[in-house]
Amino acid sequence: SQYHIAVVVGALRKGSFNRKLAHAVVRLAPPEFSFSEVQIADLPLYNEDDDANPADAVKRLKLDIKAAQGILFVTPEYNRSIPGILKNVLDHGSRPYGKSVWAGKPAGILGVSIGSTGTALAQQHLRNILAFLDVPTLGQPEAFIQMKEGLFDEEGNIGAASRHFLQNWMQRYVAWVKKHAL
Ligand code: FNR
Repeated sequence: SQYHIAVVVGALRKGSFNRKLAHAVVRLAPPEFSFSEVQIADLPLYNEDDDANPADAVKRLKLDIKAAQGILFVTPEYNRSIPGILKNVLDHGSRPYGKSVWAGKPAGILGVSIGSTGTALAQQHLRNILAFLDVPTLGQPEAFIQMKEGLFDEEGNIGAASRHFLQNWMQRYVAWVKKHAL
């Protein structure tokens, strides 16, 4: 495919609704887009002492991001912010200073939560970080999704109630990536 997207899911648990959302939503993309989830479970906690000698998992993360034309963040909200899991990924990719892999990569943000605020506050915090990291991030439509009956159908696709909304979101994301891809 012409455009390869690195998907960063801010959750580690197997049954993650956010991972489920990521897998469902990429099925709404056109054929010139491909997606793969970046592995993050084996990343060490960021430690500046290791900048000169990064772990294999860190090298892999950076190669995966460098190779992508865009990023898709799909993240839960933890205590009204992004999970530390995701912050760790962002910090790793941002260093050493001047060698950030994030800069200039177009991004979109999605998230689903149990509560009715649908990760809105986590997404705002993430936007703040991405602005600093020079990541052009799709502003509209915002997607604050609540986990409820019918969000996914039996096959793990987006259910009828949210399908039109997320199909439109994907269309806007695709256009955003095409416009900003380096
Ligand atoms: C949560 N949850 C949560 N939900 C929310 O809407 N706002 C919040 O601030 C929090 N805070 C929070 C903190 C911690 C440590 C946990 C474990 C959970 C609930 C959260 O939406 C729910 O657990 C989701 O299912 C997490 O996403 P995944 O793992 O299903 O992708």
